[in-house]
Amino acid sequence: MNKIILIPVENAEITRSELLWKGLIDRSRKIKLIRQKGKRFLEIPVGSDVEGYTVIEQDAPEYYEKYQSLKDRLEGIIPSDELKYVPSGWQMIGDIIIISIPKEINNKITDIAKTLFDMYPRCKSVVQDFGIKGQFRKPNRKIIIGDKVETIHKEHKCLFKMDVTKIMYSKGNLPERERMSELGSEEIVVDMFAGIGYFSIPMAVHSKPRQVIAIEINPVSYSYLCENIRLNHVENIIKSINGDCAKVTPQGIADRVIMGYVGVTHHYLDQGIRAIKKSGGILHYHETTPESLLFDRPIARITDAARLAGRRVEIKECRRIKKYSPGVWHVVVDVRIQ
Ligand SMILES: C[S@@+](CC[C@H](N)C(=O)[O-])C[C@H]1O[C@@H](n2cnc3c(N)ncnc32)[C@H](O)[C@@H]1O
Repeated sequence: MNKIILIPVENAEITRSELLWKGLIDRSRKIKLIRQKGKRFLEIPVGSDVEGYTVIEQDAPEYYEKYQSLKDRLEGIIPSDELKYVPSGWQMIGDIIIISIPKEINNKITDIAKTLFDMYPRCKSVVQDFGIKGQFRKPNRKIIIGDKVETIHKEHKCLFKMDVTKIMYSKGNLPERERMSELGSEEIVVDMFAGIGYFSIPMAVHSKPRQVIAIEINPVSYSYLCENIRLNHVENIIKSINGDCAKVTPQGIADRVIMGYVGVTHHYLDQGIRAIKKSGGILHYHETTPESLLFDRPIARITDAARLAGRRVEIKECRRIKKYSPGVWHVVVDVRIQ
């Protein structure tokens, strides 16, 4: 049985990220692009039925040549009763693999890392991930094999240099980074939580705004932001500021404001709204929202903050970016502030 989920291309990345995150993609088969009645769909291969999706049979599956999963390769190396704990997904940032390993097989991390090394000959290090914490979104990571922690990740014709033990890079945010790369042409943009340039760089490289003011509080992220501005040759577009956006966000100048932060983003709405020029502009407001509050809570927060600032709002679009944790979504609401 070759099962697939058929998804229109526009919505496919969210589903693909979710399935990957849950380890449900059948990695022996290729994801295929097909056309039906002039529309484009992705066939995402899955190993079993998936709650919330219609699973259908695939007509013409395409297989990867001699595909062997990490689990297949570890057969005979680690005990068979532990194979069920072997992760089916990991992240490749530049030439470094980031993997989180369940505690049940924590004593097998070296076998896992060596096997990944064999699977990816260009990989220079394998790093264990223990999660991301705090205002600076600093990851807790430890090298298992190799000694390289700094890398340059290439994505969508942009270069992102970072130390993976100090800086996060979310693969689930890829569609949003691509979307931002299509916006902002000729505009003044304020990126309030710029990090290493996740949104500022693709926007500057592809859309060429008049100016992007990129604010970042963490000195380590800020130094990579400055380096990435140089690496991508957008010094004439991005002006970087190392500071707290609650204090340094400029007022009344922006055509567009990006609030790409989650958890406490609503505490900064006043500064985000005030950054937008009096004649109006667009705010991209991110938050992590429980499923039951989609999209009422982010909309209410924006509307309340705008009212207090004496501004009018028009909700343009509400999007889910990725599953953040069980029952919680990372979302973005696009709103016009007048
Ligand atoms: C890691 S990014 C999130 C980027 C993107 N949404 C993603 O997940 O890939 C958020 C950044 O905001 C920064 N930050 C947090 N609070 C801030 C503040 N008050 N002012 C400026 N930057 C801040 C953090 O240091 C972090 O680098």
